[in-house]
Amino acid sequence: MTVLSPDAARSPDAPTLDVDRNFADSILAGLTASRKTIESKWLYDVEGSRLFDAITTLEEYYPTRVETGILERYAPDLAALMPPDAALVELGSGSSVKTRLVLDALPGLSAYVPIDISAAHLDVVARALSADYPEIDVQPLAADFTDRIVLPAGLAERPKLLFFPGSTIGNFDPDGALALLGRMRALPRVTGFVIGFDLIKDEGVLVRAYDDSKGVTAAFNLNLLVRINRELGANFDVDAFRHEARWNPTANRIEMHLVSRRAQTVSLLGQRIEFAMEESIHTENSHKYSVSGFRDFAAMAGWRTYATWTDAKTRFGVSVLLPD
Ligand code: AVJ
Repeated sequence: MTVLSPDAARSPDAPTLDVDRNFADSILAGLTASRKTIESKWLYDVEGSRLFDAITTLEEYYPTRVETGILERYAPDLAALMPPDAALVELGSGSSVKTRLVLDALPGLSAYVPIDISAAHLDVVARALSADYPEIDVQPLAADFTDRIVLPAGLAERPKLLFFPGSTIGNFDPDGALALLGRMRALPRVTGFVIGFDLIKDEGVLVRAYDDSKGVTAAFNLNLLVRINRELGANFDVDAFRHEARWNPTANRIEMHLVSRRAQTVSLLGQRIEFAMEESIHTENSHKYSVSGFRDFAAMAGWRTYATWTDAKTRFGVSVLLPD
């Protein structure tokens, strides 16, 4: 789409903004659509990443804690599956406790390849892991794993264990998730794929995980408007919106919305965006699966489920997929 210059409406001495075109185009497209949306990937600026880390420590947000417990208990089972000299390829950030649990369980691993869209973040991850695991060749790859992945030379022919924890697969709609599973299946010499997904459960438990009593998730969601104001020179009145987490039982997903508390108009990059009272901006989907549903889904992309590990209360699943 075409975008008006943000400088057009400015006085000559107003500070100029260095506008990220991808961000601006995505936000304008989403807010001018008949059902307003903001892509969830924009939640993670510096403040959003800090707030997400805070979410993972909340009592109500069980996924991080429960998945870590599952990996502590079962990661050692992976050793029997992995040939010597294999590489661990992680989708998304890394550096976390979860990565270390897998590295510790597989002492024969020769390389670790974190794939992340943020080169700065990758650099931090690579340094920390190289220091703690000097025998492992850390080869960070700055790439968007939702696009085609080109592995560094020397890695294609090496056996690989793919690792995608965190239930980030849940952010994709079913078509996108299937496409991602298919692209991973098509990579050369993949020995296995360890992937975490959140399980369908009591609606109250799910809604509380995405609308916590301390308001951290609300701040995480509302921070999108703070970011748009700062980076795109918009004039959102952040207090005029509220955070909402909704369970969508048809799509088996938690949806995050920012709901306009009143009728209002916001200016953004030379455009006026009208909000009706109670109109929402849909900001995130977090899809939930059943164990058998995820198995059938993975099978559609050519993966056989070797095992699915869950916690005692079956809140979260970690599947080990094999390429046959
Ligand atoms: C990082 C995508 C897995 O969907 O649970 C947490 C993001 N959103 N609270 C999730 C999130 C609101 C999280 N993922």
